[in-house]
Amino acid sequence: MTASEDRQRDLIAALDFHVAAGVDLMLDEQPHDRFAEVDAPARSEARAPEPVALPRRELPPRGELPSRGEAAPPARTYGQSAAARPDAAAGDARARAKDTTSLDELEALLATFDGCPLKFTAKNLVFADGNPAAKLMFIGEAPGADEDRIGKPFMGRSGKLLDRMMAAIGLDRTSAYITNVVPWRPPGNRNPTPQEVAICKPFIERQIELVDPDFIVCLGSPSTQAITGTKDGILKARGRFYPYRVGEREIRVLATLHPAYLLRQPLQKRLAWRDFRTLRAALDGKA
Ligand code: URA
Repeated sequence: MTASEDRQRDLIAALDFHVAAGVDLMLDEQPHDRFAEVDAPARSEARAPEPVALPRRELPPRGELPSRGEAAPPARTYGQSAAARPDAAAGDARARAKDTTSLDELEALLATFDGCPLKFTAKNLVFADGNPAAKLMFIGEAPGADEDRIGKPFMGRSGKLLDRMMAAIGLDRTSAYITNVVPWRPPGNRNPTPQEVAICKPFIERQIELVDPDFIVCLGSPSTQAITGTKDGILKARGRFYPYRVGEREIRVLATLHPAYLLRQPLQKRLAWRDFRTLRAALDGKA
């Protein structure tokens, strides 16, 4: 092997390492300290350079096994100014979300909303699936690779498990509405940051108001914490109902384990099964 082949092999290995670690987009030639940008007062509206999509290798989807053969995401500009001013973006989201009067309007608004930087690295907006007239709403955390590709929530392995869990209590996607707290995939399946959740929260709150379900099931800790306000971890929070007020109405929110977690910890399915039986009893007016 020549020295230049050697060097090429090392570069490919370094890229593989970064992609596997979730660094799947190159935004600039130089690293930036984004935390410092968030702390600093907004200085300029200058556009960041065009991101360069790195070759897509086998990224582990959020809590699931790798899905193969994905194309690289389209290169777009990065919403740097929104990243630097999450409070302003959340305020803007709140003001605009409250004016929407239908789910279609809310989805159209999200499609034009540039305040969340995740939008610029995602392939698709992942708004919802299932039946908007259902009295039950499932809320996950954020889309993974399959959802980002297809544009619908819970399409990958954890979605298949969610389908089986619903089927076990006589439900399917015609009897429930399914969405996420954050509608764009965080790059490399990292967790959404608290700022990203805060920016997107007015949208999920409006989505809840527009669907107006009787019951919400929060899948996993980030969703449970965002919707109920609890600081408890999911193993403590699960299996309980929390009140969620919309005007005079109270929606009952049940916290349970995320299907992706259950794929990693199959023994914990017994806890989720208990929660789903509680859900069935509540839907039948018996809990
Ligand atoms: N995990 C989530 O929280 N939501 C999805 O849509 C898929 C995986």
